[in-house]
Amino acid sequence: MIRAAITGVASYVPEKILTNFDLEKLVDTNDEWIVSRTGIRERHVAADGEASSDMSVQAVNKLLLETGTKAEEIDAIIVATVTPDMLFPSTAALIQHKIGATKAWGYDLSGACSGFLFALKSGGSLIQTGHKKVIVVGVDTMSSILDYTDRNTCILFGDGAGAVLLEPTEDENYGIIDDLLFIDGSGADALHMKAGGSRKPATHATIDAREHYIWQDGKSVFKRASTDMAEVSAAILKKNNFNSEDVAIFIPHQANKRIIDMAARKAGFRDEQVLINIDKYGNTTAATLPLGLDEVVKEKRIKDGDLVLLAAFGAGYTWGSILLRYGPGKKG
Ligand code: UT7
Repeated sequence: MIRAAITGVASYVPEKILTNFDLEKLVDTNDEWIVSRTGIRERHVAADGEASSDMSVQAVNKLLLETGTKAEEIDAIIVATVTPDMLFPSTAALIQHKIGATKAWGYDLSGACSGFLFALKSGGSLIQTGHKKVIVVGVDTMSSILDYTDRNTCILFGDGAGAVLLEPTEDENYGIIDDLLFIDGSGADALHMKAGGSRKPATHATIDAREHYIWQDGKSVFKRASTDMAEVSAAILKKNNFNSEDVAIFIPHQANKRIIDMAARKAGFRDEQVLINIDKYGNTTAATLPLGLDEVVKEKRIKDGDLVLLAAFGAGYTWGSILLRYGPGKKG
């Protein structure tokens, strides 16, 4: 059986850092509240005019360099994002053009914080049906849809991009092993952007009502995120007859340190097995999982063939987990 192996990962965050102390000057908040309720200390914010495709190109060019891949060899580019440069054309098309991936096709996918999981599953399916090199990007410029007068949301998010290269392997010890993915649109009321889509196109009134920003009922999302991400993380291990000690690293979505701790406890992980970087980046939506994967690979916290568990929960609702063995294995 052909499996999709992750043969490289790279990421990018913008230079500018916004600390909790910077936010104290913008809204009625304080470092102590933000750290104790979320675990976030700072987040990176895109420069003026820096959009999702720009950050993605930085990550993808690093990925091509590090994996010795030529842009012309890429068969497809899938981009998970809720902050595309424009509603159309796709961010995938903009990235394709900027990196010179002359033989690629591709598309954007909207899965919010679970977007990278959904894109990884899609990319894996393309590999299983004959593609040889697929790039999967998770990117979000959350600062472009944050209301920096709303303390409920502006403290939570940051900007970033991450990308992986998928290639076929016939080595059954490598690649994407299994996934559990879900959507439940009954959660749409709890986390959304009210205007700017076909239901409520932009007007002076929507702008005056500040409806082009993220709106979140934090408590409702918290309740579902803390149960569903925990359950789906434990469930995928059980389904595949693994226990937590078999896993080298658990990379959960980074929306709130308290949600991460609950998921880790429920799935039976020790602290050392859990990637936590929410303190540095905040919630970067679709970029969170590839940023985390890049960090554990670059810091050599995992080695070739190690078992990795990814999990996320986000707007939609969307949630899920993917279990994989990192590295190339034998080429398919
Ligand atoms: O990525 C997509 C998925 N998103 C998530 O998973 C996020 C899930 N939700 C959360 O992480 C949490 O609900 C938040 C971090 C958003 C909020 O934490 P909380 O512990 O649920 O706080 P709360 O909303 O219950 O607010 C508690 C108090 C309130 O004051 P009162 O009514 O008790 O007087 C808020 O007004 O904290 C106040 N508050 C703040 N205080 C200082 C809310 N935001 C802030 C703030 N600084 N930034």
